Amino acid sequence: MKILFVASEAYPLVKTGGLGDVAYSLPHALQARGADIRLVLPGYRALLRQLDQVRILGWLDVRGAEGIVSARILETRHPDFAFPLWVIDCPPLFDRPGNPYVNANGQDWPDNAERFAVFARVAALLAQDALDIGWQPAVVHTHDWQTGLVAAFLADQPGRPKTVFTIHNLAYGGYFSHGDFVRLQLPGSWWSSEGVEFHGGLSMLKAGIVYADAVTTVSPTYAAEICTPAFGYGLDGLLLSRQYKLHGILNGIDTRIWNPSTDPHLPAHYSMSRILPGKRRNKQALIERFLPRADDDAMQAPLLGLVGRLVEQKGIDWVLAAIPVLLSETDARFVLLGSGQAAYEHKLTRLAKQHPGRVFVEIGYDEALAHHIEAGADLFMMPSRFEPCGLNQMYSLRYGTPPIVFKTGGLADTVIDADAENLAAGNATGFVFDTPEVAAFLQAVRRAFDLYRQPTQWRRLQQNGMRQSFDWADSAGHYLALYST
Ligand code: ADP
Ligand code: GLC
Repeated sequence: MKILFVASEAYPLVKTGGLGDVAYSLPHALQARGADIRLVLPGYRALLRQLDQVRILGWLDVRGAEGIVSARILETRHPDFAFPLWVIDCPPLFDRPGNPYVNANGQDWPDNAERFAVFARVAALLAQDALDIGWQPAVVHTHDWQTGLVAAFLADQPGRPKTVFTIHNLAYGGYFSHGDFVRLQLPGSWWSSEGVEFHGGLSMLKAGIVYADAVTTVSPTYAAEICTPAFGYGLDGLLLSRQYKLHGILNGIDTRIWNPSTDPHLPAHYSMSRILPGKRRNKQALIERFLPRADDDAMQAPLLGLVGRLVEQKGIDWVLAAIPVLLSETDARFVLLGSGQAAYEHKLTRLAKQHPGRVFVEIGYDEALAHHIEAGADLFMMPSRFEPCGLNQMYSLRYGTPPIVFKTGGLADTVIDADAENLAAGNATGFVFDTPEVAAFLQAVRRAFDLYRQPTQWRRLQQNGMRQSFDWADSAGHYLALYST
């Protein structure tokens, strides 16, 4: 089966979050089950610089905001990818420094509507073999708002491929003005509340939901949550009416990249049968990244890690409120890595300055440190207010670092709370709280500290987490079934 994957980022070439991981791992898992894949990506400067040996497949001219825009389609084989990449090279839109979506000040690129409308137009043409290269996909699988218009462009085309649209995060709607809609000369028939119109503007995310043949999201619980006002961002009514084509398929993780017994980013390796010595060496090296020496007190105290985008979704304000309480009532240490909203970055940096021996903060994006924190911390904090799937809690389970999570979305679907019953049954993997407030989070951390002081129980908890499969093969099977129906 030929499948055209269309995404705005893919690990390791360009990644801002979990979408990049999924756009790398899922097509590989599909290919391992016999699918024939092409992955379409925008030609960002940072991405172009990593390519060598490209072949020009052809040129496609499409409407931009001020007339026709010409895109060159490059095909390349990259050593990290087992299938060809198709890169849409359009320098005025994509050849610029920095982040794919925002400028150096963290503001959306002002021409994002045009950038991703052009990207979608070109992808829709490639899905119809407009370059006449003899590769006609049966399915086009698109991801998040940046690709929402692809299904809309294809909807009326005769003999078109099936379209699947995956929502990785409903919080990002791809909202633009009616003026953008007009400037981009999008079809007038789309402009209705049954089409792309959303509160007087254009929503590219809504386009994907309305026009795709199937809509998926990345966990069963989130698929149910987004049909309710609390999680639906105003699209819950629409999603409820499209439940017949809405599916929740849990993400997997790449168990080759995220493997504590081989991970090249770790100072020491370990596995389920022998956790302690390796994990201790990782903890020591992690602390010594921030302090001259990891003394006995530091090694004995629980070390809580966090890696993530510093945005409201991730419950960073709860973490900021909880740390001072925990600093005063326990001997815990904290190590946090992230970037995002400036206010959170400043508050975390200040906290680290106030408590240099106990709070370690790194602002930025650092793949190697992310791996090291998963391995070196004793517990992983992920108290997200909502979480479509979440990958970090699965990485932490696999690294023997029990996660503390709020019961929502994919967190609810992947972490089993260490309550008395689950501990007795021997299947607990982490700590889950179910009231969205800081007191409940603190309670969960305290429960975690109690168990941490009981080595036998603790090792069992770690091993249960490490034993979980989360293999992409299972999810890939669900997608293949969906593609064929
Ligand atoms: P989201 O996609 O909402 O950001 P996920 O848990 O699904 O959340 O995925 C986040 C991914 O991005 C993980 O692979 C995580 O390790 C990575 N990540 C997030 N922030 C950073 C950072 N500052 N440095 C390195 N990796 C990060
Ligand atoms: C999004 C979500 C996250 C999910 C990721 C990959 O960024 O916030 O929960 O794991 O996409 O699907």
